Amino acid sequence: MKKVTILDKEFELFIESNTIQENIKRIATDINNDLEGKNPIFVAILNGSFMFAGDLMKHVTIPSEITFVRIASYKGVRSTKDVKEVLGLVENIKDRTVVIVEDIVDTGHTIEQLISQFELLRPKEIKIATLLFKPEALVKGVKPDFVALEIPNDFVVGFGLDYDGFGRNLRDIYKIKP
Ligand code: IMP
Repeated sequence: MKKVTILDKEFELFIESNTIQENIKRIATDINNDLEGKNPIFVAILNGSFMFAGDLMKHVTIPSEITFVRIASYKGVRSTKDVKEVLGLVENIKDRTVVIVEDIVDTGHTIEQLISQFELLRPKEIKIATLLFKPEALVKGVKPDFVALEIPNDFVVGFGLDYDGFGRNLRDIYKIKP
């Protein structure tokens, strides 16, 4: 499919499935090399990372665990910024190597808040693996450690990413038409 319509918006094909898979495989190899002997625990952030996490883990060959969490987002009492809270983490991550698995790092706000929440649980170290990274949009100083694909500052859907809840099931990634 060269084009898709989701709700009121049109999107055009941007990154095909085979390119996505090649790059996921590449970062899985980096993870296998860099985290060997560390028995990492992968913490995938739902909903966006479900497809990425599944395909990534097929190529992770070092001993490791995976778990899934959600983020609750609500308005802070004293500031206008959203406060993000991690829900559903039952594993003990103290002294563990944690790999946060995200769909996309855009401004970096989400990942920054996730890191500070996880740090309260005293892991040994925290690494970030992301399917997509928009370097031009980044306003926070948090750089992901493992990036499958860098993209320009355009809105995209597919392979887990949504527009208003739809489009997560697409096997390719599409970008919004100007
Ligand atoms: P950040 O906090 O600005 O880094 O944004 C991260 C979150 O915004 C992601 O986890 C996505 O849910 C959402 N997001 C950012 N850019 C896009 C996009 O292009 N398509 C779909 N969702 C996006």
